[in-house]
Amino acid sequence: MERNAIAVIVGSLRKESFSRKAAKALIPLAPPSLRLEFVEIGGLPMYNQDLEDSPPVTWTEFRERVRKFDGVLFITPEYNRSVPGVLKNAIDVGSRPREKSVWRGKPAAIISVSTGVYGAFGANHHLRQSLVFLDMPAMQQPEAYIGGAAKLFDDNGNLTDEHTRDSLRKFINIYAEWVSKLTTQ
Ligand SMILES: Cc1cc2nc3c(=O)[nH]c(=O)nc-3n(C[C@H](O)[C@H](O)[C@H](O)COP(=O)(O)O)c2cc1C
Repeated sequence: MERNAIAVIVGSLRKESFSRKAAKALIPLAPPSLRLEFVEIGGLPMYNQDLEDSPPVTWTEFRERVRKFDGVLFITPEYNRSVPGVLKNAIDVGSRPREKSVWRGKPAAIISVSTGVYGAFGANHHLRQSLVFLDMPAMQQPEAYIGGAAKLFDDNGNLTDEHTRDSLRKFINIYAEWVSKLTTQ
């Protein structure tokens, strides 16, 4: 069976991040056709085009690593109705030099996570706007907006809400099928 490698990028650096907890809960729900792997973004220096003549090694390593994946799964909170700067920075770093963007063509999916009631809808859709420019096909359905995140996990960070688990299972299985279709075309 063909196995697709998927980079999991979490848009929060917080130790107790609900987005990361959701990502951790998602991994065992993925079917065998997907291999999900975290790619960390917290150590990337802020994007500055002046550095491109001699890019920081962290940028180069990140670019080379992401390039090898078949798809990308973004799991992100919302900051002020958009994505956190750390995630936008990682997207910018991976997108340059433009002709070598690591994102182009990789099938993406988004799960947005919030303690609020709207499930970080704003961040989810702001991110979709960037994916259009990056030429990343983005899964349209199902959408994944996780709201009220503070009530979904126990003190050890385990997901305790079965409705959310079922939604995540459905989401990741449909993503796996969609990625398989795109990567075998
Ligand atoms: C700077 C900042 C801005 C925020 N803006 C929003 C927002 O626009 N919408 C929202 O639903 N929650 C907002 N929140 C609350 C986050 O949903 C909450 O802090 C969440 O736990 C962050 O995700 P994490 O647990 O993965 O770090 C904001 C939090 C911070 C720190």
